[in-house]
This record gives sequence, C-alpha cells and structure tokens, in this order.
Amino acid sequence: QTGMFTYDPGFLSTAACQSAITYIDGDKGELLYRGYPIEQLATQCDYLDTCYLLLNGELPDAAQRGDFHKLVLHHTMVAEQMQFFLRGFRRDAHPMAILTGLVGALSAFYHDSTDINNPRHREIAAIRMIAKLPTLVAMAYKYGVGQPYMYPRNELSYAGNFLRMMFGTPCEDYVVNPVLERALDRIFILHADHEQNASTSTVRLCGSSGTNPFAAIAAGVACLWGPAHGGANEACLNMLEDIQAQGGISKVGEYMEKVKDKNSGVKLMGFGHRVYKNYDPRAKLMQETCNEVLAELGLENDPLFKLAKEVERIALEDDYFVSRKLYPNVDFYSGIVQRAIGIPVNLFTGVFALARTVGWIAQLNEMISDPEYKIGRPRQLYTGSVRRDIGAAK
Ligand code: SDX
Repeated sequence: QTGMFTYDPGFLSTAACQSAITYIDGDKGELLYRGYPIEQLATQCDYLDTCYLLLNGELPDAAQRGDFHKLVLHHTMVAEQMQFFLRGFRRDAHPMAILTGLVGALSAFYHDSTDINNPRHREIAAIRMIAKLPTLVAMAYKYGVGQPYMYPRNELSYAGNFLRMMFGTPCEDYVVNPVLERALDRIFILHADHEQNASTSTVRLCGSSGTNPFAAIAAGVACLWGPAHGGANEACLNMLEDIQAQGGISKVGEYMEKVKDKNSGVKLMGFGHRVYKNYDPRAKLMQETCNEVLAELGLENDPLFKLAKEVERIALEDDYFVSRKLYPNVDFYSGIVQRAIGIPVNLFTGVFALARTVGWIAQLNEMISDPEYKIGRPRQLYTGSVRRDIGAAK
C-alpha cells in the first residue's frame, strides 16, 4: 500500500497480448506452433519447415519447401566487412556480447530491408537473419578460439552447415555426422518460438517504435542472454559441473538443501517456468535427443548426464519442487546435448538465439501487420513522493 494505489508487482510481468502463432497450455504441458504439437514437428519436420510454418501459418508443400530452403541457404554468407567488426572484441569476449553487436550491425549493410513497415523489407530481413545467424554464431566461436572462419556451403543442410562452420577447418574436409545434424536441427525446432516470453516481448516492444527489424532482433538477443531466460542452459550446465566438482551424485542432497533455503538465492537451474506448471514438453524431447547423441558418441555413461538424471529424479520426489510445480524445462538437458556435440558452454545461448530468431521475426511481423498496433507504452503505478515544493526543503 503506498497510500495512493495497491501495487501489484505482477502487473507488468503478466501484460497480455493477442497472437495466433504459438499456444502453450502450462497445466497440460502442451506446446503448439500454428496448431501443430511440438512432438510432431520435432519428429516429422525439419527446422526450415518449422520456420516456414511460423512465418506463413502453414507447413510448406514440396515446391514451397524447396524454394524456401534454397532461398535461406543462398543468403548464409555475411558481408566480408563483418570480420573487422569482430576484431574490435577481446578474444575472450562472451559470444552473446559479440552476437548482440553483430545482429544490430546487420542493419548497416542491408538498406533494402530496414523499413519495418514495408512487408517486402520485413520478408527480406527475415530470410537474411534466419540464414545469417548460424554464420554469425559460428564466427563468434571461431574468433574466440583463434581459428579461421569457415564459409557456409550451400549443399549442406541448415544444421549441417552450422556444424561445419563451427568445427570444420580449411585443413581438411569436414564430414557431417547425421545423428548430430538431426539432434541440432531438433534443438533448433524446440527453441524456435514460445509465445510471449521475455525476449519476444522485448522484440515486440522494440519493433513497435518503428526501428529496423535487425535492431529489434538484436534487442531480443540481449534479453535472451539473461540466466533466468535463455542463459539458463549455460547456468544449468555450470551448476551440474559445480556439483560434479564437489563430489557428484553424493552432493546433490546438499545442493538441494541450499536451493530450498530462501536466503541462499540459489535456484535449480533448468527447473521451473513462468507458464509450465507441468512438464515442459520440450524437456522430454530434449532428454530423448540427449540419449541419442550420447549413444552415438559412446558417452552413455557421461557422468554429467547421469548426474542430471539423478537431480531430476530427486527433485521430482521432493515436496519443495512438487508442491511448487517445478519441473525440468527446455534448458535442463539442452546444455548436456550441446556439450556432447562439442559446443562450448558460453555458446549455448547463442544457439538458442539462432533458433529463436524465426519466432521473434514471426511475432514482430504479426504485431506490425496489425493496422491497430501502436508503439508499446507500459503504464506504471506511481509509488513516489506526492507533489512538494523545493522551498520547503531549504
Ligand atoms: C526459458 O518464458 C518462456 O517461455 C521462457 C522460455 C522460452 O522458451 O522462451 O521457456 C525459456 O527461459 C525457460 C526458463 C529457464 N530459466 C531457468 O531454468 C532458471 C531457473 N528457473 C527460475 O529462475 C524460475 O523457475 C523462472 C524464472 C523460470 C520462473 O520463476 P517464477 O515465475 O518465480 O516461478 P514460480 O512462480 O513458478 O515459482 C514458484 C516458487 C517460488 O518460490 P515461493 O515464493 O513459492 O517459495 O518456486 C520457486 C520460486 O522462488 N522457484 C524455484 C525455481 N523456480 C521457481 N526454486 C528453486 N529453483 C527454481 N528453479
């Protein structure tokens, strides 16, 4: 109570908007992209089909699929000058710091797709960002490890291209492992959109000012970086590695006690969700993908995966988590899969951003296409001083 209003802290975190793109039923643990269950998309489609669906509202037919795949793969290269932009960073810069800069910088190169109110500009910008994000993420990685950048190869799949740009070198041919390629493509699908999460709301609010599409997506990249949001996969893996370093499974109980101590501020990373009060359907698919990748790489006895399964088992039997409806979310296993593929921990959120770019764009397009949309302007409940005069203070 401020004497003026009854302040509801949840007010701003629950502002609603209307959308026809993604549906989540948090109680049922259901996730639909344009009406299709995530379980079907993740097992029967590929990421570019899912991009087409999110952008256009329908899955592509054979001709549309071929054209869209060709269009995206034709735009995977970035302007050569982007390398000079990278050189301004320290080698140990966090990839998300680099990516936030690189995505925003795209607006300096493509003047034919910067008018957010022009549908054709938005369409071109969408293709360019979906196509170039993997190249930019791989460049941020290569810059950090001091290896030469790998140019994209248009005969490869979207996920295969990313794997080669990440782990290939000019010294030898890179052979794409189909199991890892499929796993990565599925990770992209699972992260493609998720209705009005923090970064999507950021993109909508930023785009509502009429700024260019690249700047609006760069704002989404910056917001996703936070450990309570897209940075949770990196934080979750760091948490598992910390527990492992302290003794592994035997130390899980001790860690759980710390989590349950409100004063510790310690969260079980990869658990809980603003909307899901049941299992995050993406977490189950991510665990299956984890099993497939670890089996392919002969890592079934990966200690971190075994530790993660033990953490999940203990949490799902512990009243603190059960009573609060805290279940594993998409980030709980995604870090283990990416680590097994060879992606460094500090690049997990970059991969998340790469995958979520299409969702951000679809949501931005939906807002801008609504003739009724206006610039976002959340209201506030004022809780400061009532009017007073300086004279009285002297
Ligand atoms: C993503 O929004 C999206 O859709 C995001 C995302 C997407 O695809 O865009 O799904 C991606 O961001 C997934 C979430 C990744 N974040 C993490 O894994 C970080 C750890 N999780 C938490 O920080 C937390 O669960 C949130 C932020 C995700 C949700 O926090 P809320 O809204 O406070 O959760 P809640 O209201 O359900 O919490 C109920 C209780 C509270 O305790 P009490 O006040 O009732 O005593 O559970 C506690 C919370 O403090 N709690 C946790 C916890 N999450 C909530 N306690 C320990 N560990 C946790 N992880």
